[in-house]
Amino acid sequence: MELMMWKVSYETGHAKLDEQHKGLLATFERMQHALVDEGDGGDAMELLAELKARTAEHFRTEDELMERFLYPEEEDHKGIHGRLIAQIEELYRRVEVGQTAMTPPVVKFLESWLTDHIQGEDFRLAEFLIAKGNQA
Ligand SMILES: [Fe+2]
Ligand SMILES: [Fe+2]
Repeated sequence: MELMMWKVSYETGHAKLDEQHKGLLATFERMQHALVDEGDGGDAMELLAELKARTAEHFRTEDELMERFLYPEEEDHKGIHGRLIAQIEELYRRVEVGQTAMTPPVVKFLESWLTDHIQGEDFRLAEFLIAKGNQA
């Protein structure tokens, strides 16, 4: 699938992080399509589960890199990862029990959360890693 929502301004220059970020945004894109095309939310829910798993895996990658290269902002950055994962898990639970509907604005909110994080903390991390000679 063509990735519509990827922007050059999301590119950190670190190949591995960029590849994983693209994968996460592709999942958002598929969720948005599922919500618009089907309306019952079933596929969107499966995609939300996939997003949860992919996000956790991605954060593990970044967390490990921060540890390995003794990143000075490690604690704050990991804290932000923890909060974002908690938000996704909370949304998943609420949708599961019918307290919240999976709607395009809900997905958009999470997506903005993630892209703000990419353009903020992840850019700083990528710059640091590249300076340390790690860029893939
Ligand atoms: Fe990231
Ligand atoms: Fe991050």
